[in-house]
Amino acid sequence: MNRTLNRETVQKIGEEVEVRGWVQTRRNMGKVVFLDMRDRTGLLQAVCVPAALTEESKQLLDDIRSEYVLTLRGMVVQRGAKQINEKLETGTVEMQVNTITLLNKALTPPFEIDKDTRTVNEETRLKYRYLDLRTERMRNNIRMRHKTMQFVRTYLSEQGFTEVHTPILSKSTPEGARDYLVPSRIHPGKFFALPQSPQQYKQLLMVAGLERYFQIAPCFRDEDARADRSPGEFYQIDVELSFVTQEEILALIETMFTALVYELFPEKHIMQEPWPRLTHAEAMKNYGNDKPDLRKDKNDPHELAFAWVLDFPLFTEQTEADFFHGAGEKWGPSHHMFTAPRPEDIHLLDTDPGKVRALQHDLVLNGFEVGGGSIRIHDAKLQEKIFDLIGFTAEQKQQFEHLLRAFEYGVPPHGGIAPGLDRFLGVVLGEKNIREVIAFPLMGDARDPLMGAPSTVAQKQLDEVHLQIKK
Ligand code: AMO
Repeated sequence: MNRTLNRETVQKIGEEVEVRGWVQTRRNMGKVVFLDMRDRTGLLQAVCVPAALTEESKQLLDDIRSEYVLTLRGMVVQRGAKQINEKLETGTVEMQVNTITLLNKALTPPFEIDKDTRTVNEETRLKYRYLDLRTERMRNNIRMRHKTMQFVRTYLSEQGFTEVHTPILSKSTPEGARDYLVPSRIHPGKFFALPQSPQQYKQLLMVAGLERYFQIAPCFRDEDARADRSPGEFYQIDVELSFVTQEEILALIETMFTALVYELFPEKHIMQEPWPRLTHAEAMKNYGNDKPDLRKDKNDPHELAFAWVLDFPLFTEQTEADFFHGAGEKWGPSHHMFTAPRPEDIHLLDTDPGKVRALQHDLVLNGFEVGGGSIRIHDAKLQEKIFDLIGFTAEQKQQFEHLLRAFEYGVPPHGGIAPGLDRFLGVVLGEKNIREVIAFPLMGDARDPLMGAPSTVAQKQLDEVHLQIKK
């Protein structure tokens, strides 16, 4: 018999069906045993009356425990008015079982799967992530992540964007964090860097004439974890356009996210439309930070306060510890070094760099920076000038020679943005930690207790990539 999904049973009253799934709970009431069966579509109550079961099934019934994998065959019946469970999608029906087939047994899980696992020790949750993902909240988070990606893909594709996979084995891309390095076997002493973002590739794709690029892009940054920051990898909805104004980028993203929220998160309401815009100076003056939380009611879990923060200073003053600290230079890029200055401020580059405002845009949501982008420099000379201002040595400049060369072959004016997928979902789904929206995240200390990563490797592997571990 074909499998019926739990959700479909409501349309099959009076029919004999077969369902397959896991036993979420087993309640023994003496004369009857209730099994809450779970499959990917939700729960279904199955009623097992021993007298109605086949001999074999009767024997099995006593042994069945939570999380066993079963096939159940039986009749779908309407529940009596008093038995209706409003909270369950299949709450108007139940299944009267006649045959139980055991597909697999299961050990007792280390935590309860029919409850929210937020309070369970995180190491345990992540070690048994495949069980954690069986819980309703986690399944919903993962599904909403999928739906968000699907929405974005369809939306941007319909607007003439092409999704392109850019390399993972790449070269250091300075976004301000530390790189994850991969040693090369074929080239002793050389390393690939995993991309901190596809920034340079997407700009090269504009030189290539794609005009509209996007990618649900994996990004890798070796930085300390925070509630809204992953210590390893995360995903960006990475977007780049040619012949575009900042205004057009803002409009595209604002329209897309507004439509996305209305379609996928109908319980949410957007605090203000069109989204408020603040200059960086206003945000700092009025809120003391550059990602202000503009919610009217911070206790309302459904309020979404999107905002744009604009006119960032192009440079920030560096301290000793900063990544971009060059040979005694005091300026580092506020966003990244490909961001264009506002045209009316270009003359200040020579006299007062600290006053130059950037064509940068940050997307802020409920006090989180969920996206950042800019109009890019598309003039090789101006790009060199910025490199000089941030104190790049000739050798450092050499690292970007490919980009400057590409710019000499007809680069269109271009710009873009990259909203963080994980961070956006964390905020919209009301999660306190970004790990709650990632299927297999690293712990806060950059460790995966499930796979046991990172791990030592065999001497042979080290030899192959010409590495020696310092004692
Ligand atoms: P930026 O570095 O501002 O810009 O990153 C864009 C967005 O990516 C998300 N993000 C993160 N999410 C989770 N964990 C992290 N460690 C992490 N780091 C960043 C944030 C952030 O707003 N190439 C540019 C974009 C551009 O200019 O188009 C870039 O990467 O949501």
